[in-house]
Amino acid sequence: MNAISEHVDVPSSAVSFVQQRIAVTPQVGLILGSGLSHLADVLEDPVIIASSEIPEYPGSTVEGHKGQLVFGTLEGVPVVFVQGRLHVYEGHTVHAATFPVRLMAALGVKQMVVTNAAGGIHPECTPGTLMWITDHISFAFRSVPGPPSSAFERPNSEGTPYDIAWTTRGKLIADSLDIPTRQGTYLWTLGPSYETKAEIRMFRWLGADAVGMSTVPEVIVARHHGMQVIGISTITNFAAGLGQESLDHQEVLEVGRQVRDDLQKLITALVADLRS
Ligand code: HPA
Repeated sequence: MNAISEHVDVPSSAVSFVQQRIAVTPQVGLILGSGLSHLADVLEDPVIIASSEIPEYPGSTVEGHKGQLVFGTLEGVPVVFVQGRLHVYEGHTVHAATFPVRLMAALGVKQMVVTNAAGGIHPECTPGTLMWITDHISFAFRSVPGPPSSAFERPNSEGTPYDIAWTTRGKLIADSLDIPTRQGTYLWTLGPSYETKAEIRMFRWLGADAVGMSTVPEVIVARHHGMQVIGISTITNFAAGLGQESLDHQEVLEVGRQVRDDLQKLITALVADLRS
């Protein structure tokens, strides 16, 4: 293992495999949530690496999650987009599910944009809303291991792992593009079953604005490695008991497809803004 990969605890075989395939070190990493894989379509000079080719990369099993990394440039900024996130509910440990984040850290990624599909709990989080995640509640009762020195670190001076200054800038960018967004707290459940009406009532009472089955472990691990993090939820449905219909994964994928244009524009502008 080389010094970098020991620090980030990802096999050096995986890191060197990827390094041999890419020409430029990515600065920004994006994790694409359910139904959002297409966001990688706009990358220039793409180098696509199937996760199954990468030594020791854990497998993914969920529909709408295609397992590959797409390296390329967006608005001149070198990026990597992770298609096919790994979920703890698929049976992965938290450590395995965060493999892509540790790989990004080892490659030198400095900023991470994490996206997901989520159920809306706050009355203004209606299907189709884009929500900046300004804080989260971990309700999956899983520890997220990191380097020993980081175990008791506060998330950051704001008390949240999300970069609030960057998020505020993101909101201004969205406003300038006429893309409506709101801010809120994301709550992580283990899944894969959707919540009950009573659970959603409890989550609202606890202060959650949206609920989903991912993101929190990735964000914590990214912070362990000093990355700046921004989180964007696409609200795909009313959480259980708040809308008319029962929930299904197809609905989540369909709404994801509908907001794709706004999200695509927003992410492109967010990345362009990082051009140094
Ligand atoms: N609950 C949990 N996860 C989700 C939901 C939901 O309602 N919608 C999309 N992901």
